[in-house]
Amino acid sequence: MSESLIAYVNGEFLPMESATVHIEDRGFQFADGIYEVVACFNGFFLDIEPHLERLDRSCREINIILPMSQAALSDLVQEVYKRNPFRNAMIYIQITRGASARTHLPPPGLVPTVVITSRQLPIPPDTKVAQGASAITLQDIRWKRCDIKSIALLASVLGKQEAASRGAEEAIWLDEQGHALEGCSTNIFATIGDTLVTHPLDHQVLGGITRSMALKAAKACNIPVEERAWRLDEPGLSECMMSSTTNAIMPITLVNGQAVGDGLPGPMAMQLRSWMLADMEAMQA
Ligand code: PDD
Repeated sequence: MSESLIAYVNGEFLPMESATVHIEDRGFQFADGIYEVVACFNGFFLDIEPHLERLDRSCREINIILPMSQAALSDLVQEVYKRNPFRNAMIYIQITRGASARTHLPPPGLVPTVVITSRQLPIPPDTKVAQGASAITLQDIRWKRCDIKSIALLASVLGKQEAASRGAEEAIWLDEQGHALEGCSTNIFATIGDTLVTHPLDHQVLGGITRSMALKAAKACNIPVEERAWRLDEPGLSECMMSSTTNAIMPITLVNGQAVGDGLPGPMAMQLRSWMLADMEAMQA
């Protein structure tokens, strides 16, 4: 299967096997780079502009000058999609500062490395949605700029490993006061009373594109929304859910082995999920 996959690397479209970057790429040596994951349904990209805006912002925050316009990058993303066999695809874009002899301080004039790949979009089966996901909580051990979509994801890798070893799919990071921040690769929401609650955008969370989509859908439907610090043991909490490009909204029904609310996917999660899926369908009509 992988024989037929094509990747974009620094100006060339190459078979995945021969698509390589330099061993002294700063992404490899320092995790000195950023990334994006964009979903494509049947040729229609979901919110590509906000993804490319966020990519541009991540670059600016770490002083990498995006080596092409967002429009040119968008064209490349579409080209990579077309050259690969997946109808529903997950496009991965990675930009690093470039390659040079290893010194912490980057020398001036480096040419950023640009890699784009396309893979099958992993769509969670209905049975998974009907059951809900299971999560654990962990003390946040990440750096203090989680708003940047950095490729330095070691903490998240460890979090996912810990979750998997305890039979769960996601680990929710907690701050020192026990507030739920976000997951290793998802934003996290709760239903508290009749309100959809999620942590505000700051240095401790990524500004998820799906998070904005969910908040927009909720506000459009007059669901009260609060962006504030919250805890999983708050009185009135009846639902928990996670959002990401690959999950849309996914209910979380178990946290640390304990049922959330009645242990079933809640009405808020299912409503938001169906609105979002309807929007995605409409986009393809
Ligand atoms: N992860 N928070 C973190 C830490 C993430 O890594 C992600 C996305 C999200 C959700 O962002 P969005 O809705 O824009 O996908 C929140 C991607 C999918 C990944 O690393 O594969």
